[in-house]
Amino acid sequence: MSGLRLGVNIDHVATLRQARYATMPESKNAEPDSLIAARICERAGAGGIVAHLRADRRHIQDRDIERLRQNIMTKLNLEMGNTAEIIDIALRIVPDEVCLVPEKREEVTTEGGLDVIAQRKELEPTIKRLHLAGIRVSLFIDPTLEQVDAAAELGVEMVELHTGKLANAFTEKIQKEELEQLRAAACAASESHLQVNAGHGINYKNIALICEIPGLTELNIGHSIISRAMWVGLEAAVKEMLAAMANYDG
Ligand code: PXP
Repeated sequence: MSGLRLGVNIDHVATLRQARYATMPESKNAEPDSLIAARICERAGAGGIVAHLRADRRHIQDRDIERLRQNIMTKLNLEMGNTAEIIDIALRIVPDEVCLVPEKREEVTTEGGLDVIAQRKELEPTIKRLHLAGIRVSLFIDPTLEQVDAAAELGVEMVELHTGKLANAFTEKIQKEELEQLRAAACAASESHLQVNAGHGINYKNIALICEIPGLTELNIGHSIISRAMWVGLEAAVKEMLAAMANYDG
């Protein structure tokens, strides 16, 4: 098995449930159940479960996070914006890890990395509070050396490199440039003793390219796995992704 860990983002299991406005995950007609999805992912070999509690609660609800916290066997990575309301929830539920992401209500999904340089003042106290609660902290950043340096200065344990631009690259040339950026950022982060994760837009096609990024510990993948699960089932979809990651040699 690969040394590269897979965190499965189960937001879109909740998206499907919310299509019927079933805001209480345990109510009678609330399906599919995000906790069952998490258990299947773990059984298939996922090393962690990722969920994004958005301010507008468009998919994951507070109760999902509580149930995941109480029941999963691996680790819970809570993606969240740096806002007072969500920080309070994180401090109450105490996930294993928090990944701080930028969040705008109008975006379809997280659209870029945090600007750690510009937001240093706002991030610093949040990181301190999360650390005091025993939560490991990751910053979701664009793959630039400046952002990596700024993250390292803030004393976080991890960065998650934003792979969305690579995933959306229209030409091979842009793809190659993005891969080079990611490679350089990953090397810089490793040299700064940061754990290096990557995520956003990773799918069964671009995973081979992603595996060319050195020094990775974890990939966090959601949309492609949940989509694939519709055709082959969730357990098989997770296993297929793990198989595609298996040859990673860092
Ligand atoms: N990592 C972060 C920080 C994200 O915000 C997201 C999307 O919620 C993901 C990973 C997963 O992205 P995708 O659903 O495109 O695999």
